[in-house]
Amino acid sequence: MRLSVIGCGYLGAVHAAAMASIGHEVVGIDVDARKISALSRGDAPFYEPGLPEILTAGLATGRLSFTTDMSQASGAKVHFIGVGTPQQKDGYAADLTYVNAAVDGLLPYLSPGDVVAGKSTVPVGTAAELSPRVAATGAALAWNPEFLREGFAVKDTIDPDRLVVGVAPGDDTSADVLREVYAPAVAKGTPFLVTDLATAELVKVAANAFLATKISFINAMAEIAEVTGADVTQLADAIGHDVRIGRRFLGAGIGFGGGCLPKDIRAFSARAEELGRGESVAFLREVDEINLRRRDRAIQLVVDGLDGSVFEKKIAVLGAAFKPYSDDIRDSPALDVAVRLHGLGANVVVTDPEAIDNARRVHPQLTYNPSRDDTIRGADAIILVTEWDEYRRDLTPDHASTLTDGRVIIDGRNGLDATAWRNAGWDYYGMGRP
Ligand code: UDX
Repeated sequence: MRLSVIGCGYLGAVHAAAMASIGHEVVGIDVDARKISALSRGDAPFYEPGLPEILTAGLATGRLSFTTDMSQASGAKVHFIGVGTPQQKDGYAADLTYVNAAVDGLLPYLSPGDVVAGKSTVPVGTAAELSPRVAATGAALAWNPEFLREGFAVKDTIDPDRLVVGVAPGDDTSADVLREVYAPAVAKGTPFLVTDLATAELVKVAANAFLATKISFINAMAEIAEVTGADVTQLADAIGHDVRIGRRFLGAGIGFGGGCLPKDIRAFSARAEELGRGESVAFLREVDEINLRRRDRAIQLVVDGLDGSVFEKKIAVLGAAFKPYSDDIRDSPALDVAVRLHGLGANVVVTDPEAIDNARRVHPQLTYNPSRDDTIRGADAIILVTEWDEYRRDLTPDHASTLTDGRVIIDGRNGLDATAWRNAGWDYYGMGRP
């Protein structure tokens, strides 16, 4: 099928390449000429495992192309909207400028029978508002939220755990068209849920609100563990055995960040307020606050570990990305901790396998070093803030001991073997661990 994908960021670029890889003819469209020329050369503008391979393959077959020219969308049967919905500069609500611009820009090129499938995360009610503008062209608007995780985006797009399609009242064709688009996943038995527009929009924000709440729940338990001497990682293991609870997303640490969870829970709160139901999701404010407090705690542990002051102490910060397998630093707890330690007068050196360029652009005041070992060399304290394998799994206390005389390690992701580090003579501090 011929498809267009409007917006070639994390979501759109992956979606375009993934759809080409399952046999569709896809044009990706974005206003950013630099991004389009990179993608047209087969260069992924961000780090995402597996993306360069499907980009190159798609371009080579001729089924995948990228352009800044919106008119190239004409002739496609389905038009995916994958533009960003960032947090507004002066508030919590989502900024819908790009969604509106994408839909308005697309309208002249729509034909009767086309489907416009929104994938961006939007406040509930957005699709119903956009729908008449699309319907006036004879096309239909459906909402098809995206649940991909950065780092697993290609797999999550080609082989999702569910597909959700919201359709307008009386629209009995769009869902079938999208079923055809996702034929390989549908054939595998992937659940395909057809809902109304509002439900589809809500599914996405509800899922992210739940995940954020789960993380903040265990981080709240970490706070209690800290004043009682309990160990939150054992607690998480124990409650996680209950299948109703489950162990995933019970990783206590410096909390969640990224381009989705923080902004989505804030936009959800703002939308609920507008709907007169602010109290229904008032707990999300608490979820946000617990999350932000964990960064304070990590910083406090560094200060305590260094006997009350970090001033002019060398601190090795392992990680800058908001999570491993990503170079994304949006709302990264790791980078926030680094910046604040720098603000306290510490001599901070940050390392990360993928995110240094992005981090340096936003925080040029920090010192960066791509080498893990050089970053650790001579450090008074080490803080692990993004659990890349080279920091969590591969860094042994014996090796670290050869690099520095400092013997303080703060495990911001509870990924290290506390006993091994202590046995090697290190002062180990976890999050919510004795
Ligand atoms: C998230 C959702 O998972 C995805 O479905 C949605 O489409 C977009 O938002 P993503 O932002 O890629 O995906 O990251 P995710 O893997 O969910 O992690 C979010 C943050 O939570 C990271 O900062 C991670 O470090 C943190 N996290 C995750 C924890 O602190 N503890 C955990 O147990 C799990």
